[in-house]
Amino acid sequence: MDFDLYSARKRLSYLPRGLLAHCQRTSQLCVELAHHWGWPEDRAAWAGLVHDLARAYPEGELLYLAREYSLQIDPMEETTPVLLHGPVGAEILRRKWQVTDGAVLEAVRWHTSGNRDMGPLAKIVFLADKIEPGKSGLYPHLAPIRDLVKKDVDRALLEFFNSQISFLQLKHFRVHPAMIAAGNYFRLRLASQ
Ligand SMILES: [Fe+2]
Ligand SMILES: [Fe+2]
Repeated sequence: MDFDLYSARKRLSYLPRGLLAHCQRTSQLCVELAHHWGWPEDRAAWAGLVHDLARAYPEGELLYLAREYSLQIDPMEETTPVLLHGPVGAEILRRKWQVTDGAVLEAVRWHTSGNRDMGPLAKIVFLADKIEPGKSGLYPHLAPIRDLVKKDVDRALLEFFNSQISFLQLKHFRVHPAMIAAGNYFRLRLASQ
């Protein structure tokens, strides 16, 4: 498939303006990171742009679609359906937008919680979503990751998981099991290097 940004942007015109602006900033950062690491920039730009296509869906619809698409629903997602916007978004891309690129689908699917098996594209979409400039006020504790991501993507991921999990636990929020598993995986992998 071709990763035409213009037609994707047209298709995303239903998104609230602020969310669309976040998607565009994420897309730009994805291109910057893909360029830095020598990864395909067109897919990175496209995946970054569309990653939140289901973010503004009502919670009831996310749950309904997740069941309709026979997605595995974690108990935490039952009670906080917004967490399903990645997996549901990936299914919409596959079923309605006819996206067949596995790396793009994976990147959209896991962009909220992360996953231990993320490939290069999923890693940069995941990180770009969290550290794009519009979010710097929201997540000041993520500042060191902005530098680290250009030196070592896996260490940037580990740093993100460590700080985000501590941040959530400090506030007595629950942490998605896929994020805990990913944090444990990168901790173990990078400790042995
Ligand atoms: Fe999202
Ligand atoms: Fe996002």
